[in-house]
Amino acid sequence: MTNTCGKKEDFPIFKKKVNGKDIVYLDSTATTQKPKQVLDAIISYYEGANANVHRSVYKLADEATELYENSRTNVSDFIGSKSNEVVFTRNTTESLNLLSFTIGESLKKGDHILITSMEHHSNILPWMRLEEKGVKLDYVGFDEKGHLDIGDLKSKLKKETKIVSITHQSNVLGTINPIEEIGKMAKENDSIFIIDAAQSVPHMPFRMREQYDFVAFSGHKMLGPMGIGVLYGKYHLLEEMSPFNRGGEMIRNVDFHSVIFEDPPIKFEAGTPNVEGAVGLSAAIDYLKTIGMENVRSHEKNLTSVTLRSLEDLKNVTYYGPTDVEERGGVIAFNVRDVSNLKKNLEGRNVIVDHLYHSHDIATFLDDKNVYVRSGHHCAEPLMRTLGVSGTARASFYVYNGIDDVQAFVNSLSELNDVQ
Ligand SMILES: Cc1ncc(COP(=O)(O)O)c(C=O)c1O
Repeated sequence: MTNTCGKKEDFPIFKKKVNGKDIVYLDSTATTQKPKQVLDAIISYYEGANANVHRSVYKLADEATELYENSRTNVSDFIGSKSNEVVFTRNTTESLNLLSFTIGESLKKGDHILITSMEHHSNILPWMRLEEKGVKLDYVGFDEKGHLDIGDLKSKLKKETKIVSITHQSNVLGTINPIEEIGKMAKENDSIFIIDAAQSVPHMPFRMREQYDFVAFSGHKMLGPMGIGVLYGKYHLLEEMSPFNRGGEMIRNVDFHSVIFEDPPIKFEAGTPNVEGAVGLSAAIDYLKTIGMENVRSHEKNLTSVTLRSLEDLKNVTYYGPTDVEERGGVIAFNVRDVSNLKKNLEGRNVIVDHLYHSHDIATFLDDKNVYVRSGHHCAEPLMRTLGVSGTARASFYVYNGIDDVQAFVNSLSELNDVQ
């Protein structure tokens, strides 16, 4: 039984056999596999329309420009924004750095930025950079079930808080944060509100709201190619911001000592852009639209629910984040207690040691069974510190996973759980 949401046959990678057997890919939080429709769109662009965009008058260049700009429109329809509010970047990381090097630069000593302790490094390091000039960076905590502490957030919002930047869905805990509510609180405080949507736009219906100033996400996490990302920004804010990179394409005119920049979004797209990436992302969005984002979300909820219930039966496995699938996405970070070592080393002694398998050992054990999960700190070291672990293993789902993948994962993991 496959029971997937997108058709598994659409994804050529799943024809691959390792040691003669199918692969079970459970690392879509890191990057997703690509359907044939996306690969075909990229090949067809190179075979039929390749030229540089926005700079030449011949027909082929027009065609390439049209494909590139159609992709922008497709992205904006997908998230419910205007197309001139969509800036193409390389990925979420670049989108957030763009903000740090533009609006971040206008911050001064004593200003305050509020993020959370469940952020990916991409939404920490660009802001930490500003601490060098005396900007204060503070973190909102979360409870033992992985829910963001809204009381803590309220108490940390103050008049100096110029930026509130939070993840919509944690890439470790899976927690879906109440961004509409947090956005309203940020706006009432006159703070700029930024959303790291790397793990939400690909996995659930996402509609732009008045309180969202900037939203960042990556194409490769939503069936698109690597190297294309998005920064949504409110138009008037993009207009006020200085460009991030300077060079070809992003100018209206240049003299020896002066320049007039293009309007947004082109002002932020210096140099030759990733046209192939934009074309592939647009095809990925078409693919997701055909499935329907409500269906993507409910499919992942179903897989997550079955997995969590199965993990709860494995006495040596601990998973992190909310237990209720309404409050979390399809990413499950977990650890396994190493009971064998405990028994071997401590027999007869009155010492209690809670020893966990190293997450890389868990991932290697599963790899032997062709079950591919991520391990380590997931680019969220402050979060690992808060959990009191050095790392976790992590399984994550997407449209091509089915209940058979869940079974393969749980069966393999139960073998490790049972080692005595
Ligand atoms: C929540 C979150 N934010 C940001 C990123 C960074 O994405 P990228 O590497 O595509 O820039 C990731 C990647 O895993 C993520 O999960």
